[in-house]
Amino acid sequence: MIKVTKLQKHFDKLEVLKGIDIEVEQGEVVVVIGPSGSGKSTFLRCLNLLEQPTGGVIQFEGTNLTDKNVNINELRQRMGMVFQSFNLFPHKTVLENLTLAPLKVKGETAEKAKKTRPLLT
Ligand SMILES: Nc1ncnc2c1ncn2[C@@H]1O[C@H](COP(=O)(O)OP(=O)(O)OP(=O)(O)O)[C@@H](O)[C@H]1O
Ligand SMILES: [Mg+2]
Repeated sequence: MIKVTKLQKHFDKLEVLKGIDIEVEQGEVVVVIGPSGSGKSTFLRCLNLLEQPTGGVIQFEGTNLTDKNVNINELRQRMGMVFQSFNLFPHKTVLENLTLAPLKVKGETAEKAKKTRPLLT
């Protein structure tokens, strides 16, 4: 479903991602662990091009996201990301933060949004 090959990202001289290879299948749960500043968020941000990778290939459901002709906004509707700490709504629960985008952007019902994220219920 998601296949990442030799993903690289550097900010000027700071090399953050040095050739990440990973494949994630539908329904698989993957935990990325590492010290603060090791590049976890940068990796996730690269997955939907919130950061432009310096090198490598990201395939999502067979589409190469790094291809210039890709409609990234369409793909982003199917690849959700919830930010950490100050980017979360403190008055909402974890589940409400996670289902907000599908409710607002895709017009899903609360029931469906919740059901398609069964690991969180
Ligand atoms: N836009 C940016 N410009 C320059 N450097 C950046 C940028 N974004 C991240 N970095 C640097 O890249 C490195 C990785 O940061 P990142 O936020 O990905 O780490 P993290 O593993 O998510 O950390 P945390 O556990 O604190 O969330 C850090 O050294 C950070 O300062
Ligand atoms: Mg982070």
